[in-house]
Amino acid sequence: MARIHQTLLGVRQLLWAFAFGAIALVGTGAIQAEVLAVDLGPGSTAPVRPFALNQVQLGDGLLQEKRDRIKSFLRSYDERKFLVLFNNQAGRSNPQGVTPPGGWEDGGLLSGHWTGHFMTALSQAYVDQGEQVFKTKLDWMITELAACQDMIAARFNGSKGSGAASWTPTFPGYLGALPEDTVLRLGPPRWAIYGGNLDTNTWAPWYTQHKIIRGLLDAYYNTNSSKALGIATKMADWAYLALTIGDKNHPQYTGNLTRDDLNYMWDLYIGGEFGGANEVFPEIYQITGDSRHLETAKAFDNRESLFGGAVNNQDILVVTSDKIPGRRRPARLHANQHIPQFIGYMRVYEHGGGQDYFTAAKNFYDWVVPHRHFATGGVGGSYPGTDTNGELFQNRDNIANAMAGTGAETCTTYNTLKLARNLFLHDHNATYMDNYERGLFNQIAGSRADTASTRDPQLTYFQSLTPGVPRDFGNTGTCCGGTGMESHTKYQETVYLRSADGSTLWVNLYIPSTLSWAEKGFVVKQETAFPRADTAKFTITGQGPLDIKLRVPAWARKGFKVTVNGQQSDAVAQPGTYLTLSRTWKTGDVIEVNMPFSIRIERALDRPDTQAIMWGPLVLQIVGKTSSANNGFLGLSLYRYLKLDGDYSSAAIKRTGTSATGDATFKTADGGLTVRPYYIGDSQAVSSYFRRIEPTVVFGTIDTGVPNRKRNEGLPSYDVPVTGIPSPGTDGPTFLDLVWDQAPFATHKAFVEAVMSTADAFVAAKVYSAGERDTIVAKASQAEQELAPN
Ligand SMILES: *[C@@H]1O[C@H](CO)[C@@H](O)[C@H](O)[C@H]1NC(C)=O
Ligand SMILES: *[C@@H]1O[C@H](CO)[C@@H](O)[C@H](O)[C@H]1NC(C)=O
Ligand SMILES: *[C@@H]1O[C@H](CO)[C@@H](O)[C@H](O)[C@H]1NC(C)=O
Ligand SMILES: *[C@@H]1O[C@H](CO)[C@@H](O)[C@H](O)[C@H]1NC(C)=O
Ligand SMILES: [Zn+2]
Repeated sequence: MARIHQTLLGVRQLLWAFAFGAIALVGTGAIQAEVLAVDLGPGSTAPVRPFALNQVQLGDGLLQEKRDRIKSFLRSYDERKFLVLFNNQAGRSNPQGVTPPGGWEDGGLLSGHWTGHFMTALSQAYVDQGEQVFKTKLDWMITELAACQDMIAARFNGSKGSGAASWTPTFPGYLGALPEDTVLRLGPPRWAIYGGNLDTNTWAPWYTQHKIIRGLLDAYYNTNSSKALGIATKMADWAYLALTIGDKNHPQYTGNLTRDDLNYMWDLYIGGEFGGANEVFPEIYQITGDSRHLETAKAFDNRESLFGGAVNNQDILVVTSDKIPGRRRPARLHANQHIPQFIGYMRVYEHGGGQDYFTAAKNFYDWVVPHRHFATGGVGGSYPGTDTNGELFQNRDNIANAMAGTGAETCTTYNTLKLARNLFLHDHNATYMDNYERGLFNQIAGSRADTASTRDPQLTYFQSLTPGVPRDFGNTGTCCGGTGMESHTKYQETVYLRSADGSTLWVNLYIPSTLSWAEKGFVVKQETAFPRADTAKFTITGQGPLDIKLRVPAWARKGFKVTVNGQQSDAVAQPGTYLTLSRTWKTGDVIEVNMPFSIRIERALDRPDTQAIMWGPLVLQIVGKTSSANNGFLGLSLYRYLKLDGDYSSAAIKRTGTSATGDATFKTADGGLTVRPYYIGDSQAVSSYFRRIEPTVVFGTIDTGVPNRKRNEGLPSYDVPVTGIPSPGTDGPTFLDLVWDQAPFATHKAFVEAVMSTADAFVAAKVYSAGERDTIVAKASQAEQELAPN
């Protein structure tokens, strides 16, 4: 049945139509509610929905600094560079001396993708503060791309091209920086594979189509460019024909594409990578009401080797070579090839695709986080031994043994955040936002160098997990350079969300910002220096009832205090949930939040002695090169600095001050090493993880002389063995780990009791002898002075 959305009007026009009683447009009165509820883009039919990007303005602070550096790049970079390759394919001339961007945007088989990213970034940069320069550039690109699309379409109708533009399109609507053939040849009868030959190979052609359409749709959402929507819709019409009828002018053509053909295409390593192509077509379906676009999205279902496993929650991201599902998927899947597919499934789900699409996405996400997730929010890394491709998924629970090598690809975090956010819109579990915050303030914020450059985006590709290695910045023309331009221009997108009925405002992130919620008549101004400080103040303008849900971060272990107009709130603040303030608000009401950061140690799932230092939401990196000791990791002994409160920040890793830029600096008591937030983007050698070296049981300076032994039960067993690495491992939590996990201790007596019961358990498990236990307990009893907090 045709849906209301086929009117081809955006949200503003629909609201306008309703307000002026133009209900005839809609048909029946029953759909009125839906008319008012029309939102576009991710979550547009979800119970919790995003605000339009122009409803939230970013205030001054860390993220603004990162964003401004990208904005100055976008402002200066010559947008004409993006049209060169498109003009070549369209048969249009180029200005003298203007060259393509380079990198992978150089005429090779991924060309065109950066044009899409650049349009998304321009529209996001524009909507932020309305600076005309970004819209001027964007409008110019859209006009030129429309002309290219028309020139190519004219060849479909018989007009002749020449040179690079002499090919004739199979279907109308195609737009690209490469010939249409580079897309069609991926399927039957040629089944082109990944490689560099421009005439026979392919390189993720649908990934590039996705990026261009995404850029155009974002231009429509953010700047109301109906021309951009028009181009995108024609590209979608072309995509439908390309994925149903296929390569019909080829002499060996045998008929329409089958489900099997599509599955086979998507299982091709890299060549079959389609990014989140399946996210854009349901959005176009919503706007146009043309159900063929929903069918196009479903054509991307990766049915042979992954979708079913995801619905049934069978983690098959990495399998042994004798258990590969399907005809041609590799044993280890490529992380950034597959994560965005599930963002697309969310969009299919949101437009009536059925529950399986949601279930698949939710299960898949849980395989990635936490089972393949570094403390930084990164995913990827390398196996020891032969397979060192850091873009692939590790096998389940391999964290510590995946750190050597290139590290985690930045795009993967960009996509993991998109998926977490989208899942949250349907399943309001604060864990998604804890993970979003982690990825945002670490891997994403850390992906931009803290230097000005108008010629280079200065973004990361891999962020190394190898200890003592600096981050590399650059990435003109690469995937991570592209997603990076987007990430740093949309920092405000998830700060606030709203319930579909407008009764609830969700505050997910502590980021200086102003929400203008015109439909409800509220303006909410958030003032904070987070994550350089741990307080936030919200000032309300407007009047009326509203539930405000404040996220209580899972890391807020030292309390989360909320006052409303100076009065302490008695709402429950359980870490890892949302606290609800229900009241009738009035202009001038003030909410203040205080959430002290503490130092926490996070242990790798598979090797608890491989640890990251956390400060609130931030990973603290240790500055400096490493030696070959401890397998190249820095080693730290920290237990002897702890007091009964178990607080690492009082001596073990102590705050030394604040840098000129406002960033916290710390020093370790052991070794006097400098420790600082991950998000700092310079070229110093840094370590995200270190090895914990605690050879004997100590209480302050009292050394019992008893080895601090490990208990290895409960360590995960890799689902696929890693050559040379015992699994499960032999580096389980130590005696002192298990004792200090019970901190803080109210009294010395409580501490001694914890030591005693833990030692008893070690004796029962035959790890300690009764004599060793007695020594440990006796020394713990003597340590009253040692352990008294200062
Ligand atoms: C081809 O020409 C026909 C007739 O003029 C026109 O209706 C159609 O829109 C054209 N198609 C394209 C893709 O330009
Ligand atoms: C959006 O563009 C359409 C024309 O494409 C125009 O009618 C409408 O007024 C614009 N809306 C806004 C809010 O600018
Ligand atoms: C091939 O696909 C097109 C849709 O693009 C459809 O109209 C046509 O009926 C299909 N042909 C066959 C034989 O299924
Ligand atoms: C939220 O997600 C986490 C991680 O998957 C899970 O352990 C927890 O039970 C979930 N909470 C709720 C309320 O569903
Ligand atoms: Zn990338």
